[in-house]
Amino acid sequence: MKKMILIADTGIDDAIALIYALKNPQIDLLAVVSGYGNIDREKSLRNVEYLLELANRKDIPVITGATRPLNGEGPIFFPDIHGVEGFGPILPPIPEERFARRTNFSRLFQIIKDNPNEVTIVNVGRCTSLAIAWLLSPEVMMDVKETFIMGGAFLVPGNVTEVAEANFYGDAQAAHFVCQTSPNLTVVPLNVTRKALITPDLVDFINARASSPIEKIIKPILDFYYEAYQQLEPGIAGTPQHDLAAVMAALDIPELYSYSKRVVRVQQGESFANGLSIADFRPGSMDCFGIGCDRIATELNENVFTSNEE
Ligand code: RIB
Ligand code: CA
Repeated sequence: MKKMILIADTGIDDAIALIYALKNPQIDLLAVVSGYGNIDREKSLRNVEYLLELANRKDIPVITGATRPLNGEGPIFFPDIHGVEGFGPILPPIPEERFARRTNFSRLFQIIKDNPNEVTIVNVGRCTSLAIAWLLSPEVMMDVKETFIMGGAFLVPGNVTEVAEANFYGDAQAAHFVCQTSPNLTVVPLNVTRKALITPDLVDFINARASSPIEKIIKPILDFYYEAYQQLEPGIAGTPQHDLAAVMAALDIPELYSYSKRVVRVQQGESFANGLSIADFRPGSMDCFGIGCDRIATELNENVFTSNEE
């Protein structure tokens, strides 16, 4: 059983990752940290509250994440992909007092302290909240067992710019810092998440069997996401489940991924290459070791993904 903390910017693919984590008996979801990214922090918190309510899991703590990147600049949101509210056509009916003006970040540290060397963090949004956790309390964060982050694009096109993936682009400074600081870190980049597709046929299959409120929102949000992806990549066979791919990496499913261990660095600043993820994949380069050396998922076995995604 994995004791997991999910750090998200709760838009559509984050929601699918969260639903999977809630339904998978191998995962004990200890908390969700929700911050800015696809949408602003308050909407992101509200969306998690909504999912937990639908799942009848209001016992799971929702922790306030960051509102903007470490450099203090205003964040860029993605309404074309996730909708203005983050869930496509759905406006979650959660009263504002449940999510606004909340400050409970210290709860994150308490949960880690209560579960020393047992917590798996899966970060599927910008790396800001995770970086802040390390900056505030490295002693506590050293008690995290392992960390998985969805982000980066190694030697393949980005999805926000020619070279950068959205989570790394959105806070390149935090992404670089986390990759250099966090021990036992696995990076799950676009190289593999772009192939983690859910097809419309599979969505219809899931919807036909949906019996609970949480299962019934899968189709409306994924239909919206599919239309958005058809604009981005005409003809794509389904929707890439970037964030689900990172949660599944944490489950150590045999033969799902191939990995290489490399030093990961992230380009920062005003340049056109902001958010570019860099690792040495030249012929002859070898696996590294030590802090700052991360495991990178380099290949996804699509058959294994499909047989585990339902
Ligand atoms: O690049 C894909 C990532 O950016 C996903 O985590 C998506 O939810 C957005 O945050
Ligand atoms: Ca995300």
